[in-house]
Amino acid sequence: MHFFSYKGNELYAEDVPVRELAERYGTPLYIYSHETILRHFRAYDEAYRGFPHIVCYALKANTNSAILRLLARNGGGADIVSGGELFRALKAGIPPKKIVYAGVGKTEQEIRFALKTGILMFNVESVDELAEIDRIAGIMKKKAPVALRINPDIDPKTHPYISTGMKENKFGIAIETALEHYRAASRLKNIEVVGVQKHIGSQITTLSPFVDALKRILTLFDELNKRKFDIRYLDIGGGLGIPYSDEKPPVPNDLARRLLPILNGRKITLIMEPGRSIVGNAGILLTRVLYLKKSGRKNFVIVDAGMNDLMRPSLYDAYHRIIPAVKRRRPQVTADVVGPICESGDFLAKGRRIEKAERGECLAVMSAGAYGMSMSSNYNSRPSLAEVLVKGKKHNLIRKRGDYGDLIRDEMVPGYLA
Ligand code: LLP
Repeated sequence: MHFFSYKGNELYAEDVPVRELAERYGTPLYIYSHETILRHFRAYDEAYRGFPHIVCYALKANTNSAILRLLARNGGGADIVSGGELFRALKAGIPPKKIVYAGVGKTEQEIRFALKTGILMFNVESVDELAEIDRIAGIMKKKAPVALRINPDIDPKTHPYISTGMKENKFGIAIETALEHYRAASRLKNIEVVGVQKHIGSQITTLSPFVDALKRILTLFDELNKRKFDIRYLDIGGGLGIPYSDEKPPVPNDLARRLLPILNGRKITLIMEPGRSIVGNAGILLTRVLYLKKSGRKNFVIVDAGMNDLMRPSLYDAYHRIIPAVKRRRPQVTADVVGPICESGDFLAKGRRIEKAERGECLAVMSAGAYGMSMSSNYNSRPSLAEVLVKGKKHNLIRKRGDYGDLIRDEMVPGYLA
């Protein structure tokens, strides 16, 4: 569900024609819908109403400060994976006690920052990391709250690059050895074991991997409780998919209806870490057609957004629907929609049936709110894109377009070359 739809021939973001946004802010442009983000966040919050829970939004999906503030205002927490994300979360007003910290490579500086902040818990991914957190907490005279991230060895049936809960993935601690790791953790002086966490992958479109993974984790949870561990938090990660084309993924409520009965009265606070399912369909990438080109039998639509602005198609062969900002009666053609980057892998769509594009018109790349801007780069020295948040008839620039000066601002030329 989202608020990007045609009214007459014009594509609207909520109550604003996207064509007007292109004129006002230029292209390429990321456009987000306030109502869509809020609706998706609330869908989680309401699905678990009555059960103690924290919705820790996975910042990595989209880190824009305005979006973080919108979620913070509505009670959202944060799932972070770096000191930078911690900084952003705090700046947006997310309370430390709603922040969980994952990632296999936390540095000393990052661990110190999180301990000083007093986050809810570290989701620890290895024995080495546990020892490091214990050592640093000791120096800082703190007790570090931790959950162990458990790898339940479940196949989430998603793209191999975004599956994380199988044995061959680098994430988490194998479930078979979990108990001994918990015992070891409980012997560390500066560690307080408070939780169990799992996250099995992303863009998961069926319920069974979530159900199977939760059941496996609960066996461990019950085992731990029997052995007098005080596990207060059960963090089930994120990963719920969204419709990019004709997938019909479950919604948060479907998931809650399956998971809550399995939890069956256990006294815990449930934590979830959704990213994509909150912001994915709440954003589009608006791009302008620069040129049309025919090469042999192939049609190319050359647009002003490239793989550096939205790398999902190039990186995962991901499908994003592409539709015109203004509909016209026109034939369909098969074309590659490509960007200006000097790589053959720079495409937004390959061999796609689309409405025949015209030079100068705008196209909307749909479902680009998650892992779009947050994974973008300045490759080919292309300034960062602008981002706009639409709320009803109002629209606000929430990130200004970068300029050429930004590209070299942090670079330095040694004196002997000056
Ligand atoms: N929690 C942890 C520990 C994660 O690693 C992730 C995503 C999430 C939560 C949020 O997952 P979500 O609800 O968004 O599926 N760049 C890829 C997706 C990478 C996901 C990485 N981890 C893409 O564009 O498809």
